[in-house]
Parts: sequence; C-alpha cells; structure tokens
Amino acid sequence: MSAFPWTGGKVAVLNSLFSIFPKMSKVKAYVDFFCGGCSVAFEVARRNPDCEIYISDLNPYVVNTLKIIKNNPDELIEELQHVEELDSEEYFAKMKKRQPINPEGVGDAVWFMYIINRSFNSLFRLNSHGKFNVSYNNRNNSRIVSPERIGGLYKLMTNFHIMPAGSFSRVARQVESIKTVKTELQIGPSEIFVYFDPPYVPVSQTSDFVDYNPDGFGLADQQKLSNVMLNLAQLGCLVAQSNSNADWVLNNYSDNFHIRYLEKYRLNAASAAARKKVLEVVITNYEPAQRLISSFL
Ligand SMILES: C[S@@+](CC[C@H](N)C(=O)[O-])C[C@H]1O[C@@H](n2cnc3c(N)ncnc32)[C@H](O)[C@@H]1O
Repeated sequence: MSAFPWTGGKVAVLNSLFSIFPKMSKVKAYVDFFCGGCSVAFEVARRNPDCEIYISDLNPYVVNTLKIIKNNPDELIEELQHVEELDSEEYFAKMKKRQPINPEGVGDAVWFMYIINRSFNSLFRLNSHGKFNVSYNNRNNSRIVSPERIGGLYKLMTNFHIMPAGSFSRVARQVESIKTVKTELQIGPSEIFVYFDPPYVPVSQTSDFVDYNPDGFGLADQQKLSNVMLNLAQLGCLVAQSNSNADWVLNNYSDNFHIRYLEKYRLNAASAAARKKVLEVVITNYEPAQRLISSFL
C-alpha cells in the first residue's frame, strides 16, 4: 500500500525487500528518512502493528499529506470527492497555478493528492524555481479518492511519528533523533531498524530519475548518506539501504556492509528493451539469508 502513486515507490517489490529485512517481530522501532509514499512504512505497520514508526522526507507536500491522512482523513476524503467531480485538463491547469508555497493543512493535501494522481506518469517534479511542471495525464481515469483506501491507511498510522520535512543532509540531527528514539522507547539499538531509500546513483547519464527536488541528489549527498549509515550501524542499529548497482555504490559499501541483489523483471512490457531485467542492490549491516532475490513486476 502506498499513500499516493510515487516515483521510486517500493510497492511492487515489498515481498522481496521484506525477505532481506530483519524479522519484523523483533523490530520495535522503524525509521525511514526517505519515506515518499510510505509503502515500506505501511508494510512494516501491517506486519508488526506494535512497531513505532518514524518517518520523514525532504518533500513538504509529501509530509503535509501524510500528516493529514493521519490526523484529518474524513475532511480529506470529503474535499477530494469534490475535486474529483471537477477533474479536467483545464481544472488541472488551474490547480497548477494555485500551487501552495509552504504546504500546510487539508487544502494543500488535497492539492497534492489531485496533482499527483493526474500528472503524467504520476510524476511530481519541480523546476528550478520550485514550480510543479508536469503535464496532465488525460488517459488516467483512476479514482482520485477511495474512502476505503484512505481509511485503511489511517488505521495503519496509529504508531506513525511524522518528523518535520527536511533534507537528509541534516545528518547530525537525524543521528541525534535516533538516540532520542532509543531513550523515549527504552529499547536496545538492535531493536531499531533504519531503512534508507534515497534517489539512486544513476547507472548511466540518461537512465534514472533523481530529480525529486530542484537541487537533485548528487554524489556528495550519497557520500553523506553512507557516513550516516555507518554511524547508525556503529550505534548498533540494524540498517538497510536500497540503491542502484552503480560502481560507486558497490565500491563505497562493499567493505563495511553486505550487498544483496534484487532482480526486477517486467513481464508485460511492450518492447524487448523494456522487458530487460533491472538489477538493484540492498545494502545491510546484518547478514540476510538470501543472496539474490527476483521480483516479477
Ligand atoms: C526512492 S524515493 C522513496 C520511495 C519510498 N520508499 C516509497 O516506497 O514510496 C526517494 C525519496 O527521497 C526523497 N528525497 C530526495 N532528496 C532527499 C533528501 N536530501 N533528504 C530526504 N529525502 C529526500 C524524495 O522526496 C523521495 O520521496
């Protein structure tokens, strides 16, 4: 389950990922700094309803929408039903112009849910001025709101702690927040599982979408991330990261971590090129049983 369609979301590979993750019954706190549509966090909550879940993302539209699903689902459903009736290419163009600057509250969550459900390829891309710049997908007739879905998400969010939207590069503070989690919950570090799902290191110059925000996510960010992961591993937490199988990733992590490969096959893709398998890695500081996992999308 994902709160909304989200590029790079892990819905299609959840079973594979959880076969590499630690046993959920042993995890008392789950932390996700790149939560996006929260597909992984929702699956943790489904598998272990007692787990305390700490989430955050750089994108303030994402974070505001998750807060509203948790705190104000009924109003969100009501307003989305109204917007669904108005949906058209012209309405989409009007909504684009009404982009909130500092998203806060139900109205801004409605804006985001509408835009993400009707943008081409459900892409949320901002230009260098922070303006949403994706066009309308006139072939998408899927529902923008399903009260049952939002109700289901709301129920899974009982133990969600939504941290303020912010860049992962506030490394020190994030590491501090793990210490706070430990003290608050009085649990051992090995009961804390931190999963990182950052924008991937591109395997080629044209291949991958990394522009989740106007500043991108370059190798300097990847380097900071690898330092944080190492810090948390040294604190005794269980850590895992998804990334591409780019040389930089393999070179940077193979000395201190275990690397597992996740093969993704697209069975129903139209062209042979699109059917090609995609290889990703999952980097961990514990030894997962499996070496290679396949997912059929
Ligand atoms: C691969 S997606 C995560 C997908 C998520 N696991 C899911 O299943 O929906 C990467 C996320 O990283 C976020 N992001 C990009 N740069 C970031 C940064 N510097 N700090 C924190 N989050 C960032 C993006 O907004 C995006 O949601």
